[in-house]
Amino acid sequence: MALLSHLATPLLLCASAAAAFVPGPTDAKGTARSAHARPLDQLRMSTVKRNANIAKLQAGYLFPEIGRRRVAFLEKNPDAKIISLGIGDTTQPVPTHILSGLAKGVANLGDKKTYSGYGAEQGQGPLREKIAKTLYEGRIQADEVFVSDGSKCDIGRLQMMFGNEVLSAVQDPSYPVYVDTSVIMGQTGAMNLEMKQYANIVYMPCNPENGFFPELDKTPRADVVYFCSPNNPTGAAATREQLTQLVEWANKQGSIIVFDAAYAPFIRSDDVPKSIFEIEGARTCAIEVNSFSKYAGFTGVRLGWTVIPKDLKFADGSPVAADFNRIMTTAFNGASNIVQAGAMACLDPEGLAEIDTLIDYYMENASILRKAMLDLGFKVHGGTDAPYVFVDLEGRSSWEMFSKLLEEVVTIPGAGFGPGGEGFLRLSAFAPRESCIEACERLRTALAPVK
Ligand SMILES: Cc1ncc(COP(=O)(O)O)c(C=O)c1O
Repeated sequence: MALLSHLATPLLLCASAAAAFVPGPTDAKGTARSAHARPLDQLRMSTVKRNANIAKLQAGYLFPEIGRRRVAFLEKNPDAKIISLGIGDTTQPVPTHILSGLAKGVANLGDKKTYSGYGAEQGQGPLREKIAKTLYEGRIQADEVFVSDGSKCDIGRLQMMFGNEVLSAVQDPSYPVYVDTSVIMGQTGAMNLEMKQYANIVYMPCNPENGFFPELDKTPRADVVYFCSPNNPTGAAATREQLTQLVEWANKQGSIIVFDAAYAPFIRSDDVPKSIFEIEGARTCAIEVNSFSKYAGFTGVRLGWTVIPKDLKFADGSPVAADFNRIMTTAFNGASNIVQAGAMACLDPEGLAEIDTLIDYYMENASILRKAMLDLGFKVHGGTDAPYVFVDLEGRSSWEMFSKLLEEVVTIPGAGFGPGGEGFLRLSAFAPRESCIEACERLRTALAPVK
């Protein structure tokens, strides 16, 4: 808003004070280089045309928008002690063995014998090997792993690779990055304000009626299908049978699935695969993005990876991995060597045990949140294979409920994840235990009257 009024002022001034002209740029001899002088007030702006695709985006990116509303509320109510169950940011410290890996990465830089500068853009060989072996049990090979600074960044780079002529499909609701990057790339039309959907994106409704799994036989074909399981925000995790259907469907129609497995370690159910590559046929139709952000509290440390099997090809027969490699070598310069040392430690037996303990802690929070909402009489989804609890508000507006609760607890309105999220509230289990318990108390008091 402040930015808009800042921009609007010069525009108004230009219209009313057209007399204030100054000469255009000159060369060394003082000769005018441009045929047109520009009004003084216009000199506050460049002459560069704004990217029309970015202009199509509605509002800000969801999570900064939540932060903005929280700050605005705190400015008016400085004494409020708000608890955050909002953005899915980790709160527990990085465990000791993993921390020692990061420390080793730092120490290596201080020694002539172990110092390293730029590394391979695809990641260090031993880390690629260890990811392939430890997390994929040999289903994929080391050179099919691209190590990066995080899965959000990789989704952006995958979009750069796909370009603006593909049709993308998303679960509705879904993590906003898939839609927003499709819009930024120019794959979509404008937003239909009534439907709250962009033209030229396939929205796949995922709701309690269909078990949060899209009705594939009714879904139009798309080139790229973004699929997140366990899901942010619904907390739903697709079963082996459902993922088998998804892979068969994608192979049949020649689509590429971008499978977001950022919450894989939270899976507790036996029949829920942790990777799309556990499904037969996935090597010819799927890419997987993943990250240590939620595994090991690396949200600020930054380390992710993307798996692209060699069998995955574009329509002209060329390997998808070759194009992604071209993007990584051009627009990325390799993940931090300190952080890659930390990632190696994550995958040691001690690191994996620490990850399990950390995830158990957050899952206990999820179960506390679930119980509190169920006790209040709400229908609740997620929170058993995912750190998100998705509360059915039974027809109430999610932004209104978010605003009502804001003075006590920050939540995330389901509508922020797409029109299919309207009527739901997402609670994140990433808070410290005591905050989680206190938040439940506050939610009990605030929500009891509306039930
Ligand atoms: C579904 C999903 N994918 C990816 C990410 C981003 O992860 P990273 O920190 O690796 O960029 C998030 C972060 O919240 C997420 O919810």
